[in-house]
Amino acid sequence: ATNNFVKVVEVGPRDGLQNEKKIIPLTTKIELIERLSKTGLTDIEAGSFVSPKWVPQMADSNEILEYILKYPPNSLNPIAYSFLAPNSRGLDNAVSILRAHPTSYQTFSPQSTPYEPDESGIPNESAAEPTSNPPFIEMSVFAAATESFSEKNLNCNIATSLERFREVITGAKAHGLRVRAYISVVLGCPFEGYDVDPRKVAEIACDLMEMGADEIDLGDTTGMGTAPRTAALLNAMQAAGIRNEDITMHFHDTYGQALVNSAVSLEHGIRRFDASVGGLGGCPYSPGATGNVSTEDLVYFFESLGMETGVDLDTLCEVGEWINGEIGKGNDSSVGKALMAK
Ligand code: HMG
Ligand code: MG
Repeated sequence: ATNNFVKVVEVGPRDGLQNEKKIIPLTTKIELIERLSKTGLTDIEAGSFVSPKWVPQMADSNEILEYILKYPPNSLNPIAYSFLAPNSRGLDNAVSILRAHPTSYQTFSPQSTPYEPDESGIPNESAAEPTSNPPFIEMSVFAAATESFSEKNLNCNIATSLERFREVITGAKAHGLRVRAYISVVLGCPFEGYDVDPRKVAEIACDLMEMGADEIDLGDTTGMGTAPRTAALLNAMQAAGIRNEDITMHFHDTYGQALVNSAVSLEHGIRRFDASVGGLGGCPYSPGATGNVSTEDLVYFFESLGMETGVDLDTLCEVGEWINGEIGKGNDSSVGKALMAK
């Protein structure tokens, strides 16, 4: 990968949809994943093996995983589809589906990394037409930076959540699944405000890395992050010995700061970012949190800097417009709205 490449991880099908009150038909969720797979994105968060009592919208994630394995969406490049698991129960549910389709996905070992762009920085330019590629499947655990958010989101304290994640991470790795490890509310908590210690975040990140996580995903769940506080957080991560290449930034645009914070992160050397098509999202346990930064805005921003994302912006904008229409919402992406009005 060249220094010019920045990876955009699409989280719309999970983080974007999980908060919708009205149950979205499975066919719509699958169509969203299929459409996103054709945009050039290589990483798509597709569902969540959490308790359906806690997050009813994600109750059909087993069917989504099964569908992806049986009918891998056409894509330009192999895609890594990730699923959340809060405990071993969630992992076991995912693994039982994988076991039923053992040849339908690619496993991960540090030697055979999931898809990374070639020298040119542009993912597989030669593949002009999307084709069927066996997917990678990844699991994600999700810790919190504050005790109150951990209790609200996981019904346990941080220490207990980490014990559970150790089992999930160890189990996932034993099955050849790459693991993303989120830490939520890293730049502000709905219950504890700005009182989130970057050193505490770095400490949790070190624990998760030591357990075998392949990536730390820093979630600004409330969108309370600012430029200086983003810089302070990344400095704390660096001081704790976490490498930039192991970090993903996950910004929400609640206060309109997502692109500013992304710029600060780029300057710091971060090259992987989460985003949600059409600005879909929020978090059920973070009152008032609006959407994740939209994938359209982030891709447009990176392209304006001359960076490569491998994502086709026009196709992406059509997906954002379509899904917001499907769920009866206005398009929450500035770039999406602007380009669709042309
Ligand atoms: P609990 O109630 O303490 O756990 O919930 P429990 O073990 O007592 O289980 C309660 C019930 O759930 C039982 O069912 C279990 O079997 C079942 P019952 O006996 O009552 O019929 N259960 C499960 N079912 C399916 N899959 C499972 C599972 N585990 C238990 N894996 C628990 C604890 C962790 C399960 C619950 O709190 C939970 O599911 N929480 C998930 C909350 C969530 O998904 N939040 C959104 C994701 S985080 C986020 O969005 C932020 C992020 O995107 C970053 C950002 O945006 O910044 C990551
Ligand atoms: Mg989010």
